[in-house]
Amino acid sequence: MHDVTRAGNAYEVVARVNELATGTMQAVVLSTGEKVCLIRTAAGYCALADRCSHRDFPLSAGEVTSDGLIECSWHGAQFDPVTGVMLTGPGGDDVKTYDVRIEDNSIMIAPTSAPR
Ligand code: FES
Repeated sequence: MHDVTRAGNAYEVVARVNELATGTMQAVVLSTGEKVCLIRTAAGYCALADRCSHRDFPLSAGEVTSDGLIECSWHGAQFDPVTGVMLTGPGGDDVKTYDVRIEDNSIMIAPTSAPR
């Protein structure tokens, strides 16, 4: 893993483009120790904190629904992969989002400070 600094944020390479098929997710860990769920939907790449806000289950263990939402496999909460907003579910907050950049064949993530 290496860093690429852009506009004050340190982007880290977490995967290669060809490692993630459309409609799949992958658990990655940033150098800060943050666990992140990297997602590829039909619309592109996104990243959320890899922890459901209901009971902390890893979102990367869930699935991408046919309409492009992230569904937690424990109790079925659904999140918008771009905004981190919980759209349906048993209750919980929105989840943190991360900025994703693609450069050459690399998928890079930088931390963001709060849910948007
Ligand atoms: S832990 Fe995700 S819905 Fe309960």
